[in-house]
Amino acid sequence: MARPTGTSPMTPQTTLPNLASGTTTPADFVALCAAHLDNGGFETLLLSKHCGPEVDLQRVSVRPIVLRGVPSLSFTYRHTTRDDTKNLPQAAGLQRVRELLAAVFRHAHLHARGETAELMISRRGVCTLRRRPAALASTPEAGAVQPGDLQAADRSHDRDKQRFVDARRPFLHALGVTTEQHTVVPAMSRKWKQINKFVEVFAGALRASHLLEVGPAEAPRRRPVRVVDFGSGKGYLTFAVHDHLQQQPGVDAQVTGVELRPDMVHLGNSVVTQLGLTGLRFEAGDVRSRAVQPIDVMIALHACDTATDHAIHLGLRGGAAIILCSPCCHKELRPQLLSPHPLRPILQHGVHLGQQAEMLTDGLRAMLLDACGYDTQVFEFVALEHTQKNKMILAVKRTQHRPADVVWAQIDDIKAFYGIRDQCLEALLRAEGRAPVAAPSASP
Ligand SMILES: C[S@@+](CC[C@H](N)C(=O)[O-])C[C@H]1O[C@@H](n2cnc3c(N)ncnc32)[C@H](O)[C@@H]1O
Repeated sequence: MARPTGTSPMTPQTTLPNLASGTTTPADFVALCAAHLDNGGFETLLLSKHCGPEVDLQRVSVRPIVLRGVPSLSFTYRHTTRDDTKNLPQAAGLQRVRELLAAVFRHAHLHARGETAELMISRRGVCTLRRRPAALASTPEAGAVQPGDLQAADRSHDRDKQRFVDARRPFLHALGVTTEQHTVVPAMSRKWKQINKFVEVFAGALRASHLLEVGPAEAPRRRPVRVVDFGSGKGYLTFAVHDHLQQQPGVDAQVTGVELRPDMVHLGNSVVTQLGLTGLRFEAGDVRSRAVQPIDVMIALHACDTATDHAIHLGLRGGAAIILCSPCCHKELRPQLLSPHPLRPILQHGVHLGQQAEMLTDGLRAMLLDACGYDTQVFEFVALEHTQKNKMILAVKRTQHRPADVVWAQIDDIKAFYGIRDQCLEALLRAEGRAPVAAPSASP
């Protein structure tokens, strides 16, 4: 199966519809998708906010492919425990998108060359379009994804040479990120960027920790570095971390991916077997009920909502020197938040309340890690193909003890200011006796 790599200079360009952000119709949005397809600039379309009858269907991603010479669309239907793929010729595929927007999904996010376009359909059927030029979709300094990079990644061999990970590493081909010739598969361009950025951050954290230090008693032995990646999904980052560790002199990589979905676990383990790797395995498990185990590095990327808190807690209890997480779906705090004076006029807008809830959730997580003896940083990472969330919390265990009373008091002040009653990580720490006695609960 070939994937289209963009428009040749000879291909006539279809003019993109002159659609402004604002109220629109699903048909106009599909016309915009069709124009980008014609121009070879269509990268991915993600349909989310499921409202259809199939209870375990979560989202659908759509990407262009060429199937036996016919330009087609490949649909991946993500269910709770499996993915189903269906390919359709382009015209039938666009019709399928129309049907899905009519009755099954209320949100569509198109990544195309030069722009991103989002369609939001309210419960009452009002459709709103938001178009943003690529330059505004993310910040280049953060290494964030630019929609036009899909083609660029395939074309630019020079840029590939500057990457942190060597495109010739066998795991990349086994996972479908690169071709047999070690070039990045165009549709995997975002994932390739994410892997590189992640390994760069991971390598920096490793250097800042004590994990690579080898004591005299250990000198003849290789030092084990135990990594657990909670919610490892298809394992791209799990393999990348294992590969990076294996290249560190004196390190015995012991990497485990823990994943809810058995099909993903099976997939990961079959690639491990296929490549004959040691020190890497995938296990089926739920981070919310997982037993504590000794951990050197805890990773949780895009674990939904409070799964991130459970993963951090496992990392803390396992004695992790490094905790790396990129949270998503911040649902816990939003319904609790008050709009304190004088922020009320700002927080009356739902979008601001959502942003505030996200900032407070991750800010409190970082403070809780600080109170538990970690130097923490919160920064922008790279957006994924299925989420715009791109924040990362990095925590490296301090070697020197520092009193935490001030941080605990600050946490209590912030909770009281916003009326926050429950925060999952804090509650877990309290139940464990690690947090000070509960502060008086904030007024509702
Ligand atoms: C968005 S994916 C991220 C995959 C991978 N970490 C990445 O960033 O590429 C989230 C993964 O977490 C898994 N997951 C969700 N809840 C989980 C839980 N409670 N315990 C373990 N895995 C979970 C999902 O099945 C999914 O594969």
